[in-house]
Amino acid sequence: MEPRQITERVFWLGAVDWDRRLFDSLIPLPDGTSYNAYLVRGSEKTALLDSVDPSMAPQLLAQMDKVRDLDFIVSHHAEQDHSGTIPLLLERFPNAKVVCTPKARGMLTDLLHLPENVFATVEDGETLRLGDRTLRFLHTPWVHWPETMVTYLEEEGLLFSCDFFGSHIASSDLFVIDKGRVLEASKRYFAEIMMPFRSVIAKNLEKVKTLDLRMIAPSHGQIHQDASWILKAYESWISEAPRNMVVLPFVSMHGSTRIMVDRFISSLTGRGVSVEPFNLTVVDIGKLAMALVDAATIVVATPTVLAGPHPLAAYAAFLSNALRPKAKFLSVIGSYGWGGKTVEVLSGMLSNLKVEILDPVLCKGLPAKKDLEALDQLAATIAAKHCENGFV
Ligand code: FEO
Repeated sequence: MEPRQITERVFWLGAVDWDRRLFDSLIPLPDGTSYNAYLVRGSEKTALLDSVDPSMAPQLLAQMDKVRDLDFIVSHHAEQDHSGTIPLLLERFPNAKVVCTPKARGMLTDLLHLPENVFATVEDGETLRLGDRTLRFLHTPWVHWPETMVTYLEEEGLLFSCDFFGSHIASSDLFVIDKGRVLEASKRYFAEIMMPFRSVIAKNLEKVKTLDLRMIAPSHGQIHQDASWILKAYESWISEAPRNMVVLPFVSMHGSTRIMVDRFISSLTGRGVSVEPFNLTVVDIGKLAMALVDAATIVVATPTVLAGPHPLAAYAAFLSNALRPKAKFLSVIGSYGWGGKTVEVLSGMLSNLKVEILDPVLCKGLPAKKDLEALDQLAATIAAKHCENGFV
């Protein structure tokens, strides 16, 4: 793809990765992704903001063919999908300085073995004049790593936000057109990489909200010409109030746990509680992560296998623990054959969560009437807890 003009002095360069289906060997990318770099041509100096994933380096380098001088490479974030082509850019533009936070300097050195003399580190709020254009750098840790920053192009009210406000979408549209599609992809992205750092994200959000934001250009996905709705979406995702909702990751081996899951879904639904069940044998973990953004309660449903939870349930618990969602209540349901420590093991795996543990419902073999009634009781307890806490 050729460079595309955004404003008189700002150009999109980069690569649309239509085929990629997995990120970090973990995160599903149902809609592919893009690696957005941006060229800002001031009257005196030129800066490239971010690069692209090394697998797409030839595309970026071809787009740079008409750039004779490059003074600065701004590296918002050391992760290689944005920084990985910097070594090749420095081969072509040996006089360019790599502009980054002091923390990113060390990480870029570790990850890319960049030489010491290429760096120009910037403090929070520092500006860089390119002649008639001014870049202001704002440190925004944990969007997505601790070294991250964003850049505000003062004269144009344009925020280059890297992962912040980004979404994994491959598209030929440069700007957001379908807000519904972008909202879902942005929430998925927030859930997968930023949810554990909600309190820091909230501070970063307050920081960028003080700017006159006419456009937000992230380094994945499409450019926001209307900044207000994505800011509002982030506000709801970081808020501490969960929804009246249960996330129910489940796995069943011979059907007993599945019978419990079906009864539990019906019982919760009948009491006005929303449920999002996820069959862990076919789950898209991005969807599970998205549901965890909102849920007030997590209930893991698993048979007992080798004296503990099924490995797929353990995986869901590990992931939920790492993502640190805002859920307030936790329980376990499932069937066992002769015994085990399923509840103890799962509870131990979810120690990051600040939750009240509700009485689990475990049954021996095929669930009997009393087991199904116990599930109804757990559903009633959850509905009452949600109501008492004002979760809607
Ligand atoms: Fe898009 Fe955290 O890298």
